[in-house]
Amino acid sequence: MRIGILGSGLMGGKLGTILARAGHDVTFSYARSEQKLNRLAREAGNGARASTPAGAARHADALLLAVHWLRVDDVLKQAGDVSGKVIVSCSLPMNEDDTDLVIAHSSSGAEALAKKVPRANVVSAFGTVPSEVLFELFERRRRKNRPNLVYCGDHKGAKKTAEQLIRDVGFDPIDAGPLRVARYLEPFTLLVAQLAYEGKRGPRMAYQFNWY
Ligand SMILES: NC(=O)c1ccc[n+]([C@@H]2O[C@H](COP(=O)([O-])OP(=O)(O)OC[C@H]3O[C@@H](n4cnc5c(N)ncnc54)[C@H](OP(=O)(O)O)[C@@H]3O)[C@@H](O)[C@H]2O)c1
Repeated sequence: MRIGILGSGLMGGKLGTILARAGHDVTFSYARSEQKLNRLAREAGNGARASTPAGAARHADALLLAVHWLRVDDVLKQAGDVSGKVIVSCSLPMNEDDTDLVIAHSSSGAEALAKKVPRANVVSAFGTVPSEVLFELFERRRRKNRPNLVYCGDHKGAKKTAEQLIRDVGFDPIDAGPLRVARYLEPFTLLVAQLAYEGKRGPRMAYQFNWY
């Protein structure tokens, strides 16, 4: 798949690197320095490139949106026309100092995003795990007993695309339903962050659901 990374920080930089190493055609974009984007592309290998958001979006089969909530409008403006694109978003609707959700309960960041890009197909995924665990999981991807990753969205095809990417990173995907389920998924992420950053065992963590 051709994947455009919109936001090449902790999440976008790592997921882009992993997806390039998993065999996808990755273009990194949106960081404050061009050198950083070039370095990410070089280190990811497998033909990964650095570009502008518009360059990353142009030929992409899927876009990974990985910016702070306050940067969403700016990166989307720079990306240009995203009609028909799959947008996999890990971006949480956090306030400026990352202490609270600014949208919750009666809507979600994912739904607000979908309203901003009505012609794109938004899937909420990857936001429920800390970036610190991603490389480790990719290394372990061939082992049995993978951790889960919940995702949600309204478009069947876009969800299939997201599911493939989730598997490629090393998770066992769980379809949580329509995009409105992001109302539960996003607060759940704050629980994960609490365990990761305030708990005793650190942020190299993921989760697994079991049915009995
Ligand atoms: N980090 C996590 O573990 C985690 C987990 C779950 C969900 N999330 C969510 O995922 C999203 C991304 O988080 P993150 O931790 O990856 O954030 P991050 O490391 O700050 O990455 C954001 C990217 O946006 C770029 N950026 C910021 N301002 C910019 C500007 N004015 N012009 C151009 N580029 C700019 C940053 O550039 P630089 O590279 O130059 O800084 C960086 O590449 C957030 O919504 C967050 O809530 C994060």
